[in-house]
Amino acid sequence: MATRAPNGSPQVVLITGASSGIGKACALHLVSRGFRVYGTSRRARPADAPAGVEMLEMDVTSDDDVARGVAQVLAAESRIDVLVNNAGYGIAGAVEDTTVEEARAQFETNVFGPLRLCRAVLPHMRARRAGLVVNVSSIAGLVPVPFQAFYSASKAALESMSEALRMEVRPFGVRVALLEPGDFRTGFTASRVRTVASTQQSPYYERGERALAVMERDEQGAEPPEAIARELERIIADPSPRLRHPVGKALQRAAPTLRQLLPSGLYERLMMQTYEILS
Ligand SMILES: NC(=O)c1ccc[n+]([C@@H]2O[C@H](COP(=O)([O-])OP(=O)(O)OC[C@H]3O[C@@H](n4cnc5c(N)ncnc54)[C@H](OP(=O)(O)O)[C@@H]3O)[C@@H](O)[C@H]2O)c1
Repeated sequence: MATRAPNGSPQVVLITGASSGIGKACALHLVSRGFRVYGTSRRARPADAPAGVEMLEMDVTSDDDVARGVAQVLAAESRIDVLVNNAGYGIAGAVEDTTVEEARAQFETNVFGPLRLCRAVLPHMRARRAGLVVNVSSIAGLVPVPFQAFYSASKAALESMSEALRMEVRPFGVRVALLEPGDFRTGFTASRVRTVASTQQSPYYERGERALAVMERDEQGAEPPEAIARELERIIADPSPRLRHPVGKALQRAAPTLRQLLPSGLYERLMMQTYEILS
C-alpha cells in the first residue's frame, strides 16, 4: 500500500496516544512521509502535540470519546485507512499487591481501548473492503515480566485479540498486525503507575523495587522510538504484512523464542537473574 490511496489522496491514519513517545514518533514520521495523520490525547490541546498532526481529545476508556473522535475523522476525511492502537500505560506491583480495580483499569486502557477503537472503525473499513489495524503490544505480551504481571497480561490479551481478529476480518480485505516493542526511551517510565499496596510494608517491596530499577534503567538507556515508526511505515506499505513485528534489541526480540526453546527452569532463572530478584 503506498502513501496515497488509489484515488490519489493521502492515506488517513488515526493514532491513539500521539502526544508522547511511540505514538508521537509514528505520527511525526508518517506526516513527514505524506500521510494525513490524526492523533489522540486525553488532553484538549497538549502543548507537546506533534506538528502537522490533527489532534483529537480522546480517552480510550470512554465509549463516548471514541465514538466522537472516530466520527470527527470520518466527517472530515470520509475514511480511515490505518488505525494504530497505541495509547497505553503500565502498572507495576506484585500480583498479591494488585487490586481487581487496578488490574481492571490496566485492561480498560490497554485492551478495551483498542477494542473500542476497532468496533468504531471496522464497520467503515469492512464497507470499503480495505484497511489496516496495527495494535501496539509489547515483548512483555509474549514474555511475562515479574512485578509487571497485569501489564504483561494486558499485552498478552491484546496479542490474542489481534491474532483472532486478523482471521476474522481477512475476508473483508482488512489487515491486522502487531508492533511488539522491546524497551524504548519514552514517557512510559515516568507514567508507570505503582499499585497502592506496593509500599515498604509489602513483603515484595525490596525485590519489586530492584526489578523496577532494572526496567527503568533499560527503558531510559534505550533508543528513542524512531525505529518503531519506520517499522510501522513498512507494515502500511506491505499488502500482506505478517502478524508480529518485534522491534528493539536483538536479545529482547529473541526472548519469546528463548522462552519456548530453553528448559523452563533455566529460562525462569535467567529471567529472575535479569531482574535481580533471585534472592
Ligand atoms: N516505551 C516502551 O519501552 C514500550 C515498550 C513496549 C510497548 N510499549 C507500548 O507503547 C505504547 C505507547 O507507549 P509509550 O512508550 O509511547 O509511552 P508514553 O510516552 O507514556 O505515551 C503514552 C501515550 O498514550 C496516551 N494515553 C495513555 N493512557 C491513555 C488513555 N486512557 N486514553 C488515551 N490516551 C492515553 C498518552 O496520551 P495523554 O497522556 O496525552 O492522554 C500518550 O500519548 C503503549 O501501549 C505501551 O504499552 C512501550
